[in-house]
Amino acid sequence: MKKEENRRKPMSAKTLTAEPSPPLKGETTMPGDKSIAHRALIFAALTAGRSEIDGLPPSEDVAATAEILRALGVQIAQDKKRATVNGLGIGGFAPPQKPLHCGNSGTTARLLTGALSGHGFTSFLIGDASLTKRPMRRLIKPLSAMGAGIVSRNGRLPLAITGRAPLLAALDASAGSSAQLKTAFILAALHARGESVIRVSAPSRDHTERMMPLFGGNLRADQDEKGGMVRLSGEQELRPASFSIPGDPSSAAFFAAAAILIPSSSLVIKKICVNPLRRGFYDALLKMGADLTIAPTGETANEPQANLICRGGRALRAIETDAALAPAMLDEYPLLAIVAAHAEGASRFRGLSELRIKESDRLSAILAGLKANGVGASLEGDDLTIEGCGGAPQGGGLARSFLDHRIAMAFLVLGLSAKRAVRVEGAEAIGSSFPGFARTMRSLGGVIRAPKPLRDGGASAIEAEETRRARQD
Ligand code: S3P
Repeated sequence: MKKEENRRKPMSAKTLTAEPSPPLKGETTMPGDKSIAHRALIFAALTAGRSEIDGLPPSEDVAATAEILRALGVQIAQDKKRATVNGLGIGGFAPPQKPLHCGNSGTTARLLTGALSGHGFTSFLIGDASLTKRPMRRLIKPLSAMGAGIVSRNGRLPLAITGRAPLLAALDASAGSSAQLKTAFILAALHARGESVIRVSAPSRDHTERMMPLFGGNLRADQDEKGGMVRLSGEQELRPASFSIPGDPSSAAFFAAAAILIPSSSLVIKKICVNPLRRGFYDALLKMGADLTIAPTGETANEPQANLICRGGRALRAIETDAALAPAMLDEYPLLAIVAAHAEGASRFRGLSELRIKESDRLSAILAGLKANGVGASLEGDDLTIEGCGGAPQGGGLARSFLDHRIAMAFLVLGLSAKRAVRVEGAEAIGSSFPGFARTMRSLGGVIRAPKPLRDGGASAIEAEETRRARQD
């Protein structure tokens, strides 16, 4: 194997500055939902035939899943609108000729580890600096009990997976409150002989459960706030399917928040997935008193869809959120912290331990970014408290992304709605989910600039302007 084959082009570092902006106006759509897109590609790859998936997002994470499936012999043709997948059937992947690079994507790594565990060859999974720090042990143990041989570096990537075909059924694989683990075990169970039982401690996003019937698959899910089980038989024959992916509620959240925080904004975000296990952020906005209407527009891919009508300027009140709400807005807490920074009073979000093991330690990243921008915030165990400013926070500081797309976008939203600009270092991370984020935000009125290098190669034009203004202050 040639050395350069297992290397992806390193992303060049990018800094973006978001400035206090005029009202956001207009209508927009969002890229397709990232979670649903990973699943659609993988399930299509496990059918023997041709599926057509519309509305795949241009996300680097989803591209990593597609690239790995191609390395496993799946043909995927893609144009701007549609992916055509010629699947290989359950257990049909071919041994890869190179390590499989998951980039920044935990979903890619976990879901594909589940599927690869049921193939009788060895594959190697690698990832970027952020993914290489994330825990995989919760995944490895149950898959090993099903007969897969998985060697890791201290429970983290790189992984060497030697699958077994067929696997043993899972007797009681514990997925906790993680949708990634639940789906990884479902994918493994499809490659097992007999009925598998997957235990969950709380309901997490159920896109896999909703999608399986579209591909002719069967499972029984029995989950409520107290937990539950998913049961399915192995070696099912899946059939190809064609459908469109709804807009991503986690991407839309940044636009909804910016519109709600910038007075006089009026923005419609069309055709967004409002699955009850994904819409927690929007429910929280409503509780805070935001001017938001969720107008249903039907269903796609077995998921409810709606237009989000967002208007800015209403005063927001602080909220308290319970640990039980966490799975429904897991990826939105960094942004909810930014919204809470504008509210009247202290907000408290409880039970956020999972945030420590995302693309970054999100709790530390939120605290650091808020403090640098004049917002009081503190942690007590896994509970986060944000001291609301009762209006626009100071801003004027720097926030680092820590290789985390959601941290980068959340702090750019702070810059759009704060009194002074916010600079975000490491904004290249945004490509994980939404490479067109800054362009879309600008098209609606948001001011996001990339500093131009000065001829001396040193400070940027924006930095020079900031220094000039600071001296005048
Ligand atoms: C995801 C599930 C969540 C979420 C992640 C995507 C998925 O993670 O944070 O961004 O697509 O299943 P966990 O399942 O690990 O909690």
